[in-house]
Amino acid sequence: MKKTVVSGMRPTGRLHLGHYLGVLKNWLKLQDEHPCYFFIADWHALTTEYANTEILKDSVEQIMLDWLAVGLDPEKSTLFLQSQVPEHAELQLLLGMMTPISWLERVPSYKELKQELKDRDLSTYGFLGYPLLQTADVAIYQAELVPVGQDQVAHLELSREIVRRFNHLYGETLKEPQSLLTEEAKVLGTDGRKMSKSYNNSIYLSEDEDSIRKKMMACLTDPARVRRTDPGDPELCPLFSYHKLFSSGDTIDQINEECRSAKIGCVDCKKIACENLLQYLKPIQQKRAELSEKKSLVKAIMEAGSVKAKKIAEANLRKVYQAMGLTN
Ligand code: TRP
Ligand code: SF4
Repeated sequence: MKKTVVSGMRPTGRLHLGHYLGVLKNWLKLQDEHPCYFFIADWHALTTEYANTEILKDSVEQIMLDWLAVGLDPEKSTLFLQSQVPEHAELQLLLGMMTPISWLERVPSYKELKQELKDRDLSTYGFLGYPLLQTADVAIYQAELVPVGQDQVAHLELSREIVRRFNHLYGETLKEPQSLLTEEAKVLGTDGRKMSKSYNNSIYLSEDEDSIRKKMMACLTDPARVRRTDPGDPELCPLFSYHKLFSSGDTIDQINEECRSAKIGCVDCKKIACENLLQYLKPIQQKRAELSEKKSLVKAIMEAGSVKAKKIAEANLRKVYQAMGLTN
């Protein structure tokens, strides 16, 4: 059964392997099966980055390039920029009338992020309203499925509550969105922690070969394997997770065996993983390079997507106004 899928991504810089394997590959599958709306959530970025807006424009461009390079297809999915569809904000305003502040304050990420990002003042109206904007983002398309990571599930729960409240007050109008939990990405950063921009351990889709080689050669290995003659345990080795992702079954078996018997050294092992990763990234990087020569085409794709999204958003917003008894 076809269901409307909506999801967004904050533009905070280029995308890395974690985004690709953890999020985008799932979107690629969804776009073949459902009507999909994928947008760059630039207003969401402002909720925490309102004082650092200079990277925003470039981030938006880079992310759209990454999306197209991995195979998100404007013929299949509606790819757009949130701020080009102001109906999201209009619906947020309307929903804000019936959303108790306490509901927003008890969203776990609200207090957590405020604690975490102590360097900036997040006692703002915009930051508190973040999950409400997210609710409007999905409700404006009558989203049924919202692919998100575990960290976003609480937001979706709130969205469902707000939609129920709206429907209770004004009659069945909006659809309750359901989160589609994306499997946790198995890709680790080069330091063995979760791949994340803020840890400085990421391999970017747009990264050049030399830079990837350097990072891969510096990747953490089984810490217990100190000397070349020490046997290693691939299961305790972050580098091995790259083999699991990018090497053939035969290579994986061979490394597994030769690591445990100290037949292969980490330097050689890393080289193999790195070459396989580069091979894997090649088609994405080629497509990305071609597209980055055609900036105006990429811009046009985004704008056409925004126009398409806006039509649907307008129609749904009209229903909302009607339900509320406002003529518009
Ligand atoms: N809050 C999401 C994140 O940080 C991004 C986002 C904004 C989103 N609006 C959305 C995700 C709507 C799904 C649906 O990852
Ligand atoms: Fe890791 Fe490979 Fe070294 Fe074994 S040989 S510890 S799998 S890098």
